[in-house]
Amino acid sequence: MQLYPKEITKKIDDIMNETFLKACRGEKTNYTPIWMMRQAGRYLPEYQKVRGNVTFLELCKSPELCVEVTLQPIDLLNMDAAILFSDILILMEAMGATLEFHEGVGPVFPKTFRDEESVDRLRVPDPDDTTPFVMETIRLLRKELKVPLIGFAGAPFTCATYLIEGGSSKVFWETKKMMFTSPELFHKLMDKITESTILYLQAQARAGAQALQIFDSWAGILAPCDFSVFALPYVQKIIKSLQQFDIPIIYFANNGATLLDLSVTSGADVIGLDWRINIGDAVKRVGKKAVQGNIDPFALLLPKDALRERIGRLLDDAKDAHGHIFNLGHGIHQFTPPEQARIAVDAVHELSGR
Ligand code: CP3
Repeated sequence: MQLYPKEITKKIDDIMNETFLKACRGEKTNYTPIWMMRQAGRYLPEYQKVRGNVTFLELCKSPELCVEVTLQPIDLLNMDAAILFSDILILMEAMGATLEFHEGVGPVFPKTFRDEESVDRLRVPDPDDTTPFVMETIRLLRKELKVPLIGFAGAPFTCATYLIEGGSSKVFWETKKMMFTSPELFHKLMDKITESTILYLQAQARAGAQALQIFDSWAGILAPCDFSVFALPYVQKIIKSLQQFDIPIIYFANNGATLLDLSVTSGADVIGLDWRINIGDAVKRVGKKAVQGNIDPFALLLPKDALRERIGRLLDDAKDAHGHIFNLGHGIHQFTPPEQARIAVDAVHELSGR
C-alpha cells in the first residue's frame, strides 16, 4: 500500500533511505534496493589502502577503520544498505578458538575442534566483553549512515566446518566424519555455537543493527535429510530468539536451491538466493517472504549493455516477489572492477523505476 504520493516518499528516502527495510517487510517501494555481499573488500582500491597498514584481524578490531570501510561502497557505489565490516569467524575467536588469516590462504584454526576435550574448552562468550569493537562499530555507523545497517553472523553449521576442518575445505571429510560417526559430539559443538550466536546477534540488535543476515556458506554440501537434522534446527532456534527485536532476518544458504523448501521454514523474513536457481521459480516456492539475490557475481564482468539487459530480466523474473532486494548470488569477487559494480547498481535503480 502506498501511503504518500511517490514524490513525497522519494524525498523522505533521500533523507533516510529505508527502501531496503521496506522491501524486507514486503512493502511497496519506489525502486528495487540493492546491496552486494562482501561489498566492502579487496576489489575496492580504497579498501586496499586502509588494509595496507593493518592486518585483517587488526582491521576487524578497530571500530574507526571498520566504519571507514563499511561506508566506502555506500559512498562510492550508492548501495541501499550497509553491512557491518567484520567476519563470521570473529565470534569463533571470541569462543576461544585461535584464529589466523594467512595471505593467499584464508582463515586458519591451527588447533582444530574434533574431540570432546577441545569442544568442552570452547566458551559461550558475553559479546559485550569479548567483541566490544563490533558493538562500537555498529553504534558509530548508526550515527553516520543514511541507509539501513545489516549486522550478521555465520550459521552454526558453516562456523562448525571451519572449527572442525581447521579452515576452508573442499571435501569436508572431518566435518562429515564427525556428523556420521560422533553425532552427539557434533550436536554438542552446534549447541555451543548456537548459544554464542544468539547472544552475539542479540547484542548487535541492541547496539543498533536494523536487519541481521545469517550466512550459511556451506549448507549446500548437505543432503536435505542431513540439513534438517544437523543444520536447520539451530538456525530456527537463533531466528526465534531474535523475534523480540522486530527487525528483518535474512537467511542465506549458499548453493541452497535443493534446500529451499526447508530454508523457508527457518523463520527468516527474507530468503537469500544464490545464482544457481531462477529467481522467479524461487519466488513461487517461498510464499509470502521476501527474496534477496541473485545475479552470478561473475556476470558483473559482462559488457555494459548485456549486464543491464540481464539485470532487467532478473528484475522481471522477480516481479511477483513479496519484496525483492537485489544482490549477487554470493560475495563480489576480489578482481571485479568497481566500475562494473557501479553499472549494476545504477541499472537496478533505473530499470526498477527510480
Ligand atoms: O562487506 C561485507 O560483506 C562485510 C564483511 C564480511 C567479510 N566476511 C569480510 C572479509 C562478511 C559479511 C564476511 C562473511 C564471511 N566470512 C563468510 C560468509 C560469506 C561467504 O563469503 O560465504 C565466510 C565464509 C567468511 C570466512 C572468510 N573470511 C574467508 C573464507 C575469508 C578468506 C577468503 C576471502 O574471500 O578472502 C575471509 C577473509 C575476509 N573476510 C576478507 C574480507 C574483506 C578478505 C580479507 C583481506 O582483506 O585480506
